[in-house]
Amino acid sequence: MNKITCRSPSNIALIKYWGKTAGQIPSNPSISFSLQAAYTETLIEYSEGSKSEGITLDFLFEGKSNLKFQERISSFINSVMEYFPVLNGLHLHIESSNSFPHSSGIASSASAMSALALCLVSLEKKLNGKLEFMNDFHQKASYIARLGSGSASRSIYAGYTLWGSLKNYPPFTNEYAVPINERIHPVFKTYGDAVLLVSQSEKQVSSSAGHRLMEKHPFAKSKFSQSNKNTHLMLEILEKGEQMDFILLAEVEALSLHAMMMTSNPSYLLMEPNTLALIQKIRQFRRETLIPAGFTLDAGANVHFIYPELNRNEVLGFVQSDLLPLCQQQQWIDDKVGHGPVLIKGTL
Ligand code: DP6
Repeated sequence: MNKITCRSPSNIALIKYWGKTAGQIPSNPSISFSLQAAYTETLIEYSEGSKSEGITLDFLFEGKSNLKFQERISSFINSVMEYFPVLNGLHLHIESSNSFPHSSGIASSASAMSALALCLVSLEKKLNGKLEFMNDFHQKASYIARLGSGSASRSIYAGYTLWGSLKNYPPFTNEYAVPINERIHPVFKTYGDAVLLVSQSEKQVSSSAGHRLMEKHPFAKSKFSQSNKNTHLMLEILEKGEQMDFILLAEVEALSLHAMMMTSNPSYLLMEPNTLALIQKIRQFRRETLIPAGFTLDAGANVHFIYPELNRNEVLGFVQSDLLPLCQQQQWIDDKVGHGPVLIKGTL
């Protein structure tokens, strides 16, 4: 069959990527874990195309044509053709859908671009028998995903991942993300993430625009150096299993990210009143229960409430009683540290 289907998860960063230079090079390293319930599934069906150079494509998102996405995907794939000579001249029929509601405000570029990159590399392997440019399947998929969207480079792996070069740590690079599960204390491998949906409307300022505002940001230098130090710290915390430090550092990173938005020129706010209300409630819950649970945020109003699996019953009771009333239509996603992408069998 001339089809490939890949499912790839979204991820949540604990140390944030915010600011980049040409070629999607991050200004500081970032650490995230892949989610399980929030994913994109992408199918590519290939046939002989009408052009000899590059590819042509048609695209369906959740079963319907979507010209805006189609143009973005077409220009992205054509921009990475140098890494996939075997795909030249093909026509690609691409279908993509998300496990989470389109309007949920969940960042979907990580799952979408990683699923697409995994399909492209799988297709190359199928048609060519080997990979050009890079031998390692996951490294190449992460490299290509990065060119589509920086955070997507980290969705290629299960569990915890680090993207960005780090002084004195040779395996880490700006080019692709590297899995770090071997360094992670078992207690962190089963953390839950209750994604609390505060706002489902489209963001007023895109992540790309936010990254650009870091170029002339008065606090950029200190932010990059703080996140660099925080990456080293987080690695140590993750290795040692220090749960309270983990939560406190994740919260510092989340608020530093939003502080950058509030102090950009022009400034903007993605948090909403209920984002703050949720943060206060979560901190109060931690003070009262001493459970090492806390929040992180991506570039939006939604709150990721991360907690140890051991305390799941207590946490879910609190989510139901205290947090869901602050969510839009009581909506949330019951997520956790995930198993990573899958190549869906039967279509290869
Ligand atoms: C706040 O990966 O969406 O989620 O590379 O321009 O596509 P582009 O940006 P994107 O930025 C993600 C920013 C973040 C933090 C993170 O995931 O590390």
